[in-house]
Amino acid sequence: MSKIVERREFLKTAAVAGAGLLILPSGTVFGANKPSNRLNIALIGAYGRAMAHYDGLAAENVVALCDVDEGHLALAAKKFPKAKHYVDWRKCLDQKNLDAVVCCTTDHTHAFVTNWAMNRGLHVYCEKPMGNSVEEVRVVRANYLKNKDKLATQVGTQRHEYENFNRVRELIMDGAIGELKAVHAWGNRQLRRPGYLPAEGSPPKTLHYDLWIGPSPMHPYNPGYFSGHPGANCLQWNMYWDFGTGQVGDMGSHTMDLAWNALDGGLPTSVEATGEAFNPEVTPVELKMTFQIPANNWRPAVPITWHQGGAMPPSPMEFIDLNKIDHGVMFKGDKGFLIADFQNRILLPYGKDANMTYYNRRPADKILPSMEGFQQEWFNACKGNLKTSCDFNYGGMMIEMMLLGMVAYRVGKTLEYDGENGRVSNSPEGNDLLRRKYRKGWTLNG
Ligand SMILES: NC(=O)c1ccc[n+]([C@@H]2O[C@H](COP(=O)([O-])OP(=O)(O)OC[C@H]3O[C@@H](n4cnc5c(N)ncnc54)[C@H](O)[C@@H]3O)[C@@H](O)[C@H]2O)c1
Repeated sequence: MSKIVERREFLKTAAVAGAGLLILPSGTVFGANKPSNRLNIALIGAYGRAMAHYDGLAAENVVALCDVDEGHLALAAKKFPKAKHYVDWRKCLDQKNLDAVVCCTTDHTHAFVTNWAMNRGLHVYCEKPMGNSVEEVRVVRANYLKNKDKLATQVGTQRHEYENFNRVRELIMDGAIGELKAVHAWGNRQLRRPGYLPAEGSPPKTLHYDLWIGPSPMHPYNPGYFSGHPGANCLQWNMYWDFGTGQVGDMGSHTMDLAWNALDGGLPTSVEATGEAFNPEVTPVELKMTFQIPANNWRPAVPITWHQGGAMPPSPMEFIDLNKIDHGVMFKGDKGFLIADFQNRILLPYGKDANMTYYNRRPADKILPSMEGFQQEWFNACKGNLKTSCDFNYGGMMIEMMLLGMVAYRVGKTLEYDGENGRVSNSPEGNDLLRRKYRKGWTLNG
């Protein structure tokens, strides 16, 4: 144990035993004086999506900014003038006074930044997706589980704060559609690309391109990867295998969250997937993946299917056009259907027994409480009970399932999965594809 960690552990024990105070990872005593009521945060990936976090972060102490583009660092510094600057997140994470990290970098670095941050005893908010391979998200989840009595984590699926998420969960759990039989989720965004962009020009002086590539295999610079407007530039690189996971990790993270939140799901026992012809450079647009999710103590085993790029579940009735819902979820029960997008839901009792007598509507005092705000939930958790809605266990299992589906798509056969050990039991090729290869000098566990 390092001297710093030892001191933190000592302070934590002493404070809890003594005054009931909370010690933040930096070693400051929360609650003892006003300035220490704020978290010392490193914002890694400081522009683009990060701007959506600026206002919330301004109420804390942003003490470090890290971005591979020095131009973006300068823009972020206007909002957070007191923060130290870094271009390499590995150096940033060694700053001594940190409590927490907000990670808004490219997807292919998420698991690295989060894992290194947790290894340094830091709370983490990481933009979705949590990682780009089954192995990456398992490593991050395991690290979180090891530290869950010390660290607060949140995967950036902020739509989770919509009250509709709670209402959908209540209706499904309370039996509004009878016994659950199947779940479908879908997304219609289609970004077609032929392959990696060819070499073109050279990186601007402000951009550390080698650090942008980071652990992924090298690809030549092309300004096209950086041509999107701030906050949506991810759409310029996230469909390439070495940088992202296409719509599976993008809108799939948000949309499957709506389903996953209502299921208390566990890792799938098997998965099959079909889609357009495999392209070794670009993730598929058209894709359908079906996962078998084991039973739990309130529902039977159910299949969950993810559809994207034009693939859609069949409509329960002719006059309902599911295509009008860009990103949605449909739950099928033995007494009806529940169809939802992020903020709305339709309940559809169906069949001759669908008289709703089986439905135990919950009393008003059992309605699930709304949250104060998704980002605020994480700030509060860092300073308090460590509880968040989309921690790295909940979010980790959900994205592990989705990324396993991508492996089944690549292998082209139904995969049997041992979720306990993270092993595909019927395909050595599938097993190999659970992990990505990294450039020399990069390790997930630093
Ligand atoms: N939750 C949401 O609704 C939502 C919306 C948009 C984007 N996102 C997520 O946010 C992330 C960033 O997306 P974006 O559109 O802002 O992308 P982007 O390409 O604009 O990158 C964001 C910032 O990170 C910097 N950066 C990239 N790699 C870095 C690295 N290794 N170290 C430090 N800085 C690095 C970039 O220079 C840029 O300033 C993605 O993972 C994306 O999935 C989430």
